[in-house]
Amino acid sequence: MDPTRLQGKNILITGAARGMGAANAEAFAAQGANLCIADLDGDEAAKMAERINAAGNGKAIAVTCDVTRREDNAAAVAATVEAFGSINVGLFNAGLNKPRFFMDIDEDNWDMIMTVNTKAMWLGMQEVARQMIAQGPMADHPYKLVNVGSIASRKPLVDVTVYCTSKYGCLALTHCGALGLAEHNITVNGYAPGVVVTPLWEQLDKDLVDIGFKQKAGQAYEDIVRDALQIKRVSYPEDITGTASFLVSDDSDYMTGQMIHIDGGWCIQ
Ligand SMILES: NC(=O)c1ccc[n+]([C@@H]2O[C@H](COP(=O)([O-])OP(=O)(O)OC[C@H]3O[C@@H](n4cnc5c(N)ncnc54)[C@H](O)[C@@H]3O)[C@@H](O)[C@H]2O)c1
Repeated sequence: MDPTRLQGKNILITGAARGMGAANAEAFAAQGANLCIADLDGDEAAKMAERINAAGNGKAIAVTCDVTRREDNAAAVAATVEAFGSINVGLFNAGLNKPRFFMDIDEDNWDMIMTVNTKAMWLGMQEVARQMIAQGPMADHPYKLVNVGSIASRKPLVDVTVYCTSKYGCLALTHCGALGLAEHNITVNGYAPGVVVTPLWEQLDKDLVDIGFKQKAGQAYEDIVRDALQIKRVSYPEDITGTASFLVSDDSDYMTGQMIHIDGGWCIQ
């Protein structure tokens, strides 16, 4: 890992107190980036920032932030600028899931998932882009927004209709954001994981048993590996950090509107 690859990058990353966001934050800092870790769980976000600062290289601050609130997104942007002078990259990672069969979806399930996964992504993109536009274009490189999609951004899954709807929305925000922000020298890309072992998936594994879609804990992992993946194992946050690092780095300067699948080949099945 090149400890200077992301030097000079000031990155706001949402939902990075744990899971994939935390792994990415640590990987970016190890490559020299400065991080604002914005998460609903302010205590865990603060611990993550402490770990990053203790490791040396890139610096980190933590902000308690509910990404569904515009003012919290704006405050996280302001904190990033106050700490590091500017913002170059926004990575919109906060998300959640709660499976339901189609006829069991209710308004609460719909509103919770759509608000956190899709509406909040739009809010975050807009608030970060507003700051980037105010800063004026950088001389050599575009600003970057990076959206976290999912296999559910392009594959319909019977047990998670609302999650699919929300993540198809993340793909649309990536495409439309790329169109709408190009004139400001801001690129918009994303990545789409499949099964990543994180607290989100551990909860999902339990919930799938609760709704009767799977018979026992761990069965969802086994079924997906056997029936859907070309690479015959689930993934871990460390499987994601390389692609995420590429997308926030200068190496991805000449791409916009793309969602890269990191899903063990699920999306071609
Ligand atoms: N784990 C997977 O298999 C998988 C697969 C595809 C996509 N994803 C996506 O990757 C992203 C990260 O997932 P993960 O598995 O690391 O999840 P996780 O549950 O481990 O972590 C999610 C983080 O988001 C934070 N968060 C939740 N709601 C928030 C809010 N309103 N405001 C601010 N922060 C909030 C949580 O506090 C937590 O720290 C999500 O967008 C998820 O949909 C995950």
